[in-house]
Amino acid sequence: MNLRDRYDAATAGIEAPFAVVDLAAFRANAAGLVRRAAGKPIRVASKSVRCRALLADVLAMDGFAGIMAFTLPEALWLAGEGVSDDILVAYPTTDRTALAALAADPAAARAVTLMVDCREHLDLIEAAAGDRPVRVCVDVDASYRPLGGRVRIGALRSPLRTPADVAAFAEDVLKRPSLRLVGLMAYEAQIAGVGDVPPGRPARGRMIRAMQQRSRTELARRRAAIVRAVRGLTDLEFVNGGGTGSVETTAAERAVTEVAAGSGLYQPHLFDQYSNFAGRPAALFALPVARRPAPGVATCLGGGYLASGPADAVRLPQPYLPTGLSYDPNEGAGEVQTPLLGRSADLLSVGDRVWFRHTKAGELCERFAALHLIDGDEVVRTVPTYRGEGKTFL
Ligand SMILES: Cc1ncc(COP(=O)(O)O)c(C=O)c1O
Repeated sequence: MNLRDRYDAATAGIEAPFAVVDLAAFRANAAGLVRRAAGKPIRVASKSVRCRALLADVLAMDGFAGIMAFTLPEALWLAGEGVSDDILVAYPTTDRTALAALAADPAAARAVTLMVDCREHLDLIEAAAGDRPVRVCVDVDASYRPLGGRVRIGALRSPLRTPADVAAFAEDVLKRPSLRLVGLMAYEAQIAGVGDVPPGRPARGRMIRAMQQRSRTELARRRAAIVRAVRGLTDLEFVNGGGTGSVETTAAERAVTEVAAGSGLYQPHLFDQYSNFAGRPAALFALPVARRPAPGVATCLGGGYLASGPADAVRLPQPYLPTGLSYDPNEGAGEVQTPLLGRSADLLSVGDRVWFRHTKAGELCERFAALHLIDGDEVVRTVPTYRGEGKTFL
């Protein structure tokens, strides 16, 4: 049976729209990430999964350890539900209520680590925690700054960049009695999050590969020097780096003790643009064909699930199965309906499904309350997404 027939048969009793995860693809993708990490543990990026049951499944696999969460309320929830006792909140928090809850709960305070990169973050945590212990990790700018720093390639995150910057900030952390400095993180978005084989743009691909090679070399040296400087001041439990697109090269750095990854589990279509790995599409959503306005057109109900980021065409979901469908340029993926053009449209009848891939990973789960988990040719389990549990953290 081909993939489309198998998915259609497995979900025949479910009314579209709905979302699924193909567990065989999901497990193969997880195994691929673990192979690429070559023995270093992978901290699973929860923003790219947004489903408690699947996070728990991933953490049960060899090679994965700990969660990289995206908000403190999320981390408190995951810790309280016993999903993990090692949760790094990857982005700074200004949520005083959640900080107070963290400080008041010794088990949560043992499990959760907060991200900091400036004095204001430290002041906020101290004000909430008093003299109760809170674990913190220092975020380091991993962007690439060629031409004497005049150009910045990468994400705008931490202002801390040099070994001296980070060591001086670490000293400030260490002076504050309630704060426990346990880790460093440096996420190289310009490598991990930028595919080096953009479709139909070979010249751009060559430029990206050259930039990434130089950035990798620069960052490996700088990261090692930063880790040495901070380890001269205090012990660290972990040094985190990387993401789905950079697992093997980040893990190869001696200074890095663990890598982060999440998107590669669902393998959304943005992650098809990498030369170093090829995952299998694991998370899909199905829309019903609701009308046939004209020959060569099949119009689906819903579908406007655009991804975050710079507003370009790649933010649109990808019509996946049947193959050979494309968007109407005037309508794109619409709020209530999505016309699809192409030869396959004439093979679709009202009531058939079209299968799509989201551009990014976890954002799909903000659109659906449940994921139907397909194993072989049947749905073996239906599990709530974060949204399905009433949790919309971002
Ligand atoms: C700090 C950090 N680490 C790692 C990642 C990589 O996550 P993924 O593997 O889902 O791309 C991200 C993604 O934005 C991130 O912000």
